[in-house]
Amino acid sequence: MNILVTGGAGYIGSHTVVELLRAGHDVVVADNLSNASEEALKRALTLVREERPDVKEIPFHLVDLRDRAGLEKLFAAHDAFDCCIHFAGRKAVGESVRKPWEYYENNVGGTLTLLDVMRRHGCKNLIFSSSATVYGDPSTVPITEECPKGRCTNPYGWTKWMLEQILTDLHAADEANGDPKPWNVVLLRYFNPIGAHPSGLIGEDPDGIPNNLMPYITQVAVGKLDHLNVFGGDYDTPDGTGVRDYIHVVDLARGHVKALAAVERGCGLAVYNLGTGRGCSVLEVVHAFEEATGVRIPYEIAPRRPGDVAACWSSPEKAERELGWKAEYGIAEMCRDAWNWQSRNPNGYKA
Ligand code: NAD
Ligand code: UFG
Repeated sequence: MNILVTGGAGYIGSHTVVELLRAGHDVVVADNLSNASEEALKRALTLVREERPDVKEIPFHLVDLRDRAGLEKLFAAHDAFDCCIHFAGRKAVGESVRKPWEYYENNVGGTLTLLDVMRRHGCKNLIFSSSATVYGDPSTVPITEECPKGRCTNPYGWTKWMLEQILTDLHAADEANGDPKPWNVVLLRYFNPIGAHPSGLIGEDPDGIPNNLMPYITQVAVGKLDHLNVFGGDYDTPDGTGVRDYIHVVDLARGHVKALAAVERGCGLAVYNLGTGRGCSVLEVVHAFEEATGVRIPYEIAPRRPGDVAACWSSPEKAERELGWKAEYGIAEMCRDAWNWQSRNPNGYKA
């Protein structure tokens, strides 16, 4: 299939571009590079060419999704897209609380423009990066797709929930109107993506001090940060620290390839959790990292981080049943690959 990947130079996007090309698809990337580097795509090409020397380039457009004229130009420059995998958006929870307008404008505004340009060019197939954040503080775990939603605790989460609603409505309207070419939409709710491509060529490159656990740990390991603050040691969890469902970014990327097959089958509206189904506490991650890498991670128990939930992990059974997708990597490989990336690229994509 001919796929437009928005945000394809970013962390999850670049790993997905590799898996899409490996699977034989054609890919065009659109990104404004607000949180990414074109270097990621250069390295992705190197990786892909090991298996597919026929791939000469990964076409890239430096474009902001809010720039309608720029998007029109992009669509005009390529053969019709069969599907868009839409990663582009801002994703920092804390920043979204400080800058809500910027989050709504970029994530919701950018997506609305994208959807309009897509439909005007006859492409009504979309795979959307949603998040476990739409479940808020879950009343039960593991979380299934049917669990209560829309109880977000920050503007970032609300943008995801609003966009899920918008996409659901687009699909429903086509169904109701008997549209012969209705929207096919796959909403993928990611749990906690970590790790990097096992080659160490591409990985997560956060700007400044990381907010998320794994990049923080790897920066402690590489000596850029002094120690890890463990946010909360008194949660109602086996060791008192927060529990999450960490998923290897390559497994997550492969979930998109499976979702494409669903789009090709004309799935209508489909929603899937992408997680491992296993919860891991902060201290379990620290110990798994130490074991996988031999590097000690000094840590201190600090106060809880506002907005954090105690425990959140998925039931990934629906994705396995319907998409034939299952996460293959465990926490040891996630830690190994995160460290491989960080130790080979202590400054990320910057030279
Ligand atoms: P990322 O920041 O690495 O990638 C997002 C990409 O979108 C970046 O390359 C950025 O430059 C680009 N971008 C942002 N706004 C844009 C715009 N207006 N026009 C064009 N490009 C734009 O983030 P990621 O971790 O790869 O996340 C990808 C998607 O998955 C995001 O939508 C994110 O909200 C979602 N998600 C991420 C996580 C996570 O923990 N990483 C969890 C759940 C969901
Ligand atoms: N944590 C620490 N110290 C740190 C960073 C994190 O103890 O320096 C803890 C957190 O308190 C939490 C766990 O590590 O218990 C994971 O925190 P992350 O910040 O890595 O991830 P979150 O679960 O808070 O959120 C992430 C993304 C969201 C997404 C969500 C989906 O940042 O965008 O996963 O589950 F919505």
